[in-house]
Amino acid sequence: MQAILIGFMGSGKTTVGRILARTLATEHADLDDLIVQRAGQPITAIFAEHGEGYFRQLEHQTLLQALGTPGILSTGGGTPTITMNAVSLKQSAVPVIWLTASDQTIIDRVQNDAGRPLVNELDRSALLALKKRRQSLYAAAADLTIATDRLTPQQIAQQIQNWL
Ligand code: S3P
Repeated sequence: MQAILIGFMGSGKTTVGRILARTLATEHADLDDLIVQRAGQPITAIFAEHGEGYFRQLEHQTLLQALGTPGILSTGGGTPTITMNAVSLKQSAVPVIWLTASDQTIIDRVQNDAGRPLVNELDRSALLALKKRRQSLYAAAADLTIATDRLTPQQIAQQIQNWL
């Protein structure tokens, strides 16, 4: 991998990752999509049928595999918050970019998305409490942090490209 995007659900990891990969003329991989392919089930079904612990195991195995391939990787919102993943990210020595967004931006983007099990399970305040708890873990994993609220996905991708 050339770069890894991390951040809470709705921070723009997938959108920005696709644009960045296109500008750098490289591959884009979305960790959630790779997990869905591997499991043969949507994320919501994996959570519902097997639970979050099973999802995290799949996520870790899929991350290890993805780290060995070229391109840009957009992770899931929980990926770097799991210790074994945080260790693998550090060991990979691939630049990690954290996309941050305000609480309101995140809520606006995720509230109507039925494809995210944690959004379905948690109310607004629980979701924002989870976001707050994860901040220090994202910060520990990140080599570059970009506050995205006032930027377009193209501008974010441009900033990353300039920094890489
Ligand atoms: C999760 C975020 C999701 C997905 C899963 C768990 C999380 O990814 O991996 O639903 O723990 O925050 P996105 O950030 O792409 O929504």
